[in-house]
Amino acid sequence: MNILGLSGAVGHDASAALYIDGQLVAAVEEERFLRDKHAKEKFPLESSRYCLEFAGLQPDDIDIVAFPYAPISLFSPARWHYARRYWYAPDRSLPAIFNGNRRYHRNVKGVMEMLDKLGVSKDKIRFRPVEHHLAHASSAYHLSGFREKTAILGIDGKGEYATTFFGYGEHGRIHKIKEFYDPDSLGGMYGALTQYLGFEMLDGEFKVMGMAPYGDPNKHDLSRLIHYDKKNFKVDARLVNVIGMRRYKENGRGYYFSDKLVDWLGPKRQGDEIDNPYIDYAASIQKLLESVSLELIDYYLGDILKETGKLCFAGGVALNVKLNQRIIALPYVQELFVQPAASDAGTAIGAASYIANEVGDSVETMEHVYLGPAYTTEQCVAACEACEHNPVWEILDDAPVRGAELLAGGNPVAWFQGRMEFGPRALGNRSILGDPSTKAIADRINEQIKYRERWRPFCPSILDTVAAEILQTDHPSPYMTFTFDVAESWKSRIPEVVHEDGTARAQIVSRDTNPRYYRLIEELEKHTGNAVVLNTSLNRRGEPMVCSPQDALNMFYGSDLEYLIMEDVLVRKSAGQVN
Ligand SMILES: [Fe+2]
Repeated sequence: MNILGLSGAVGHDASAALYIDGQLVAAVEEERFLRDKHAKEKFPLESSRYCLEFAGLQPDDIDIVAFPYAPISLFSPARWHYARRYWYAPDRSLPAIFNGNRRYHRNVKGVMEMLDKLGVSKDKIRFRPVEHHLAHASSAYHLSGFREKTAILGIDGKGEYATTFFGYGEHGRIHKIKEFYDPDSLGGMYGALTQYLGFEMLDGEFKVMGMAPYGDPNKHDLSRLIHYDKKNFKVDARLVNVIGMRRYKENGRGYYFSDKLVDWLGPKRQGDEIDNPYIDYAASIQKLLESVSLELIDYYLGDILKETGKLCFAGGVALNVKLNQRIIALPYVQELFVQPAASDAGTAIGAASYIANEVGDSVETMEHVYLGPAYTTEQCVAACEACEHNPVWEILDDAPVRGAELLAGGNPVAWFQGRMEFGPRALGNRSILGDPSTKAIADRINEQIKYRERWRPFCPSILDTVAAEILQTDHPSPYMTFTFDVAESWKSRIPEVVHEDGTARAQIVSRDTNPRYYRLIEELEKHTGNAVVLNTSLNRRGEPMVCSPQDALNMFYGSDLEYLIMEDVLVRKSAGQVN
């Protein structure tokens, strides 16, 4: 069965994913083609085109289009909860009762228009909506490879109405245990504080999390934001997750927190330089998120976890690697699988895998995220020849060997190879690399790409040969979705990738999933003695990750990076001797 999954239902992170007979063949985010981060309010037309082209399919070869947003019944508590809690904004609360699926209908119309442009005959395909949180759940459970009864957790800002999902998977079926509904949203609460701390929602959450270790979580008690016991939680919608008149406004823009929050905590943080008391607030909100999540996991999923120890997690909050570290540390969690594209981009995979499973296809375990476009050396050369900057370039005999030499010489290197990663993390195919034992390499990268925020730590890619020694655990970590405590003996060896709190958000690299990147790190180890490379995504601040060789060259010439290796092509800025 050919199933095309589409995301973009909630107004951001449009993407497409193609399943053929249970195999995930291609997946890509629309932002990468449009060069517009999160591709807000877009449908994944270019992404769908790519998926079909990659698989050699014609538009009419698609059997089913799966979409991660479904109509919600008036008999569900979701719409009533939403209406009751947003009583103060009748323009939003009343439609939840009287016209509660208007966004769904808008989405269907948008998808149909997109399919038209794609050349799909609508009468030939089946359109299958999947509830948003079931799509998140499927993206984690069906791809985890877990065969035993598996606890499933979903936390995001919001889907149709649900914000938080507890369930389990058994024999390929997903069962709901409990959902919470907007405005009772942990992702929303964290997002509102992200805005208050002067960052943008969808990206700034990582910065808040990066800021948190610098602050004192006990200095300010933020527990007023949320009332919770072990079983339930209720966000204080007078302070955060607010809409309409309650919104704090600045320069005509409304935020998801209220004037009342500002009265309580002081003015919203402005600019990037002011730290106090905001770093302490960041520490407090991170702690609050962790405390509430862990208690709810214990209540709703504890019994299943005590039985099998297997947990899957998706939704934007699953990218909170610090929370994930706490979850793994729970005594009854043996293994946590986080869908690497945990935010809404991953719901394209989730909706498609959910339907694939439903129609009887056996959904394969996710082994890697190299699911996007690839380019040959010849295409990279052609891009250099067409580039207005007249690049100085040469063909390398052995790119991993030369790349490692450059890295060991203390140079940051932009590294472009193979199929582009799906999801927010660069995992060696669209990366900026550095040697983590070179003093101040992180500062150098920050200077060369100029606009990187200081709150975002750099992360390591580690070979599987040394990962257990460095991270002091055997837990799998192929996607940079967890942090681990770095062994004392390694902190001084790779200081540039150890965060303030002694942790590292690591990618463990195996030869099977990325042989070329593996060899690069092996070569670097010959120089430095450490099978570790610093890895950050190949993009500048606010831009999506690089997709094509043209994008790579544009980014390269818009930065002060000196070296770019694209497949077997080395591009350098200074024409003289390398090193
Ligand atoms: Fe979501």
